Amino acid sequence: ALSNTFLKDDRWKYLTDGLSTTLIVTFFAVILGMVLGFLIAIVRATHDKNGKLGVLNFFAKVYLTVIRGTPVVVQLLILYFIIFATVNIDKTLVAILAFGLNSAAYVAEIVRSGIMSIDNGQFEAGASLGLNYSKTMLCIILPQAFKNILPALANECIVLLKETSVAGYIALVDLTKGGDIIRSQTYEAFLPLIAVAIIYLVMVMFLSAMVTKLERRLAKSDRG
Ligand code: ARG
Repeated sequence: ALSNTFLKDDRWKYLTDGLSTTLIVTFFAVILGMVLGFLIAIVRATHDKNGKLGVLNFFAKVYLTVIRGTPVVVQLLILYFIIFATVNIDKTLVAILAFGLNSAAYVAEIVRSGIMSIDNGQFEAGASLGLNYSKTMLCIILPQAFKNILPALANECIVLLKETSVAGYIALVDLTKGGDIIRSQTYEAFLPLIAVAIIYLVMVMFLSAMVTKLERRLAKSDRG
């Protein structure tokens, strides 16, 4: 009887449609998070290095404190029910914004630590080549920092994928919500929820394997 209700008609569609929503939200949130995160990190690092960008640095610090100091699901609710309350906006877009803006704060700290891990002599090397600060940052510091933080950034993608499972709080039907809808319609919890868990697990294991592969390749290129 259980598989009868679960497998009936197009109930699987809640999972497949939900999965595609999860993937879309994750993909665009990763892009938004990376771009904004890098910009914030550059502002923070520039201020640390030469005291410039005081005002921008202040706002960046406030941003990091607020975003990392409140749960992402609360930020999602505020974005949907307060900030975009009167605007007719696609829930998928709201989720992308919420998770992207949230991820940016974590990416910013990863990138900043990456920049800080580069020896100051590299800045001096840039200067001795006649490069100004921006050129040095862009052509000498960031490429080296980027290599060091690649695994951490890849890990952020994995975190973000799982993080999107709270999207159902604004009634967006992602993978988790899709499984939960099946549970509520069939009065059968086991099959749909375990199916959801397995789908996340397979995706995360796949991404983790890619990260391990990447780490190995980076270590190899270090040895020359
Ligand atoms: N789950 C945490 C929260 O509710 C965020 C976890 C870290 N997020 C991230 N994108 N690294 O705020």
